[in-house]
Amino acid sequence: MDIIITEKQGEFIGSPAFETLFGGAAGGGKSYGQLVDALLYALKYEKSKQIIFRRTFPDLERSIIRTSLDMYPREVASYNNSKHVWTFANGSIIDFGYIDNEKDVYQYQSAEYDTIRFDELTHFTEFMYTYMISRCRGANNYPKGIKSSTNPGGVGHTWVKERFIDIGVPGKVHECKMATGETETRLFIPSFVTDNKFLMERDPGYVKRLDALPEKERKALKEGNWDIFDGQYFTEFDRKIHVVEPFEIPKEWDRYRSLDYGLDKLACYWIAISPKGEEYVYKELYESNLIISEAAKRIIEVNGDDKIRYTYGPPDLWNRRNDTGKSAYDIFRENGVILRRSANNRVQGWYSVAEHLKVIDEKDEQTGEVSKIAKLRFFNTCLNIIRTLPSIQHDEKNPNDCAKEPHELTHGPDAIRGFCIERTKATKIKSQEELDYEESIRSRRKEGILGIAGRHTTRSYINYGG
Ligand SMILES: Nc1ncnc2c1ncn2[C@@H]1O[C@H](COP(=O)(O)OP(=O)(O)OP(=O)(O)O)[C@@H](O)[C@H]1O
Ligand SMILES: [Mg+2]
Repeated sequence: MDIIITEKQGEFIGSPAFETLFGGAAGGGKSYGQLVDALLYALKYEKSKQIIFRRTFPDLERSIIRTSLDMYPREVASYNNSKHVWTFANGSIIDFGYIDNEKDVYQYQSAEYDTIRFDELTHFTEFMYTYMISRCRGANNYPKGIKSSTNPGGVGHTWVKERFIDIGVPGKVHECKMATGETETRLFIPSFVTDNKFLMERDPGYVKRLDALPEKERKALKEGNWDIFDGQYFTEFDRKIHVVEPFEIPKEWDRYRSLDYGLDKLACYWIAISPKGEEYVYKELYESNLIISEAAKRIIEVNGDDKIRYTYGPPDLWNRRNDTGKSAYDIFRENGVILRRSANNRVQGWYSVAEHLKVIDEKDEQTGEVSKIAKLRFFNTCLNIIRTLPSIQHDEKNPNDCAKEPHELTHGPDAIRGFCIERTKATKIKSQEELDYEESIRSRRKEGILGIAGRHTTRSYINYGG
């Protein structure tokens, strides 16, 4: 029997993590990868026990069972049609199972499996998944694991995204804390239809059919985009474009900070601007329960030696508190962090964030190759803004505004809004009147007519080169 696998299927089969998700776009070879992996495991570990789940029996029968009947060699295994189980000559078994309702999990109360597999994981609820994790055990020393495959979307979209996508860079094993306080390892391996040369060769029209889907479905099924849902505010957000590998920022680039402060959360971002005007959010400080003096101390610690032009803060930090007569601004200042007030118009601010996220084509001068880029990008280490910016929704009453609930999602985006609106002001296209005015000031200053006051008047029109 000859089985050739794709590179991504190889990564899935070789995953060293306890929980692995093979996911993303449609047609990437996920279900096939599950079946090859299960077969190899069954052959390698005698008397091993595995189960492959789909949410419903018809789903199971139409897809995974049918493919296994085509693929598995009868010399080493036989299929029992009424029990839905493959039994191998070496005593290994692969069960097929489905969990229609949450209470169905109790059928597996006394079961034990070395490997548990879920195909189309987002069709399951989190309870179904975590309950089945408890069935992954055995008195042998075979490697234990939960291996899943899925597209984005479906009832389980949010918990699957939180469990596998929001934890950090794809393709890397992450140590994650469980509810019990113990840690375990998780790995997300993205796959796209283009990773599956078998399908690309056999059915070249498939990609075109994915392209013809409505935008939301296309983003999920073709691009494997996890950041899509109804009511999403920043639909332009795309991890492949807006999230980048960290790199050393050249010393001469301008750097800014922008923060949102509350006792419940300090969200502070460090943003560097390239000479071309690209904006890189390169550091994130995201901590709870810091009083202002502690918040300032943490900002200074995280800042290190970075030279910062301005630190933007929202206008409410200038409100004086009745008891002390001091504002948050005053206390930040006393503790070494001098803030600059950012404009407070929320809607204008969100438009400005959207403008910075806008995806545009960039042509390489030399090769002529066109690639998609955006002005504002995030280092992949800034986990919370990457999680919250695409999750924030439209406000129900004023669709131009972002929703203030869930409150937890607002801190990072609020801080980034402060930066974007100030930046838009600083780099706005000047009207002829403003240009004439600046020119007149420049010439008058040359003639020694204007001093400091003149410099002040022009400040809001300084172009920082964006
Ligand atoms: N290694 C392989 N060798 C031969 N054919 C393959 C291989 N991997 C995948 N295929 C074929 O490519 C097609 C898509 O694969 P598969 O169904 O596993 O993708 P999927 O990611 O599960 O898709 P979906 O998102 O639709 O569930 C199938 O026809 C499958 O048989
Ligand atoms: Mg599949």
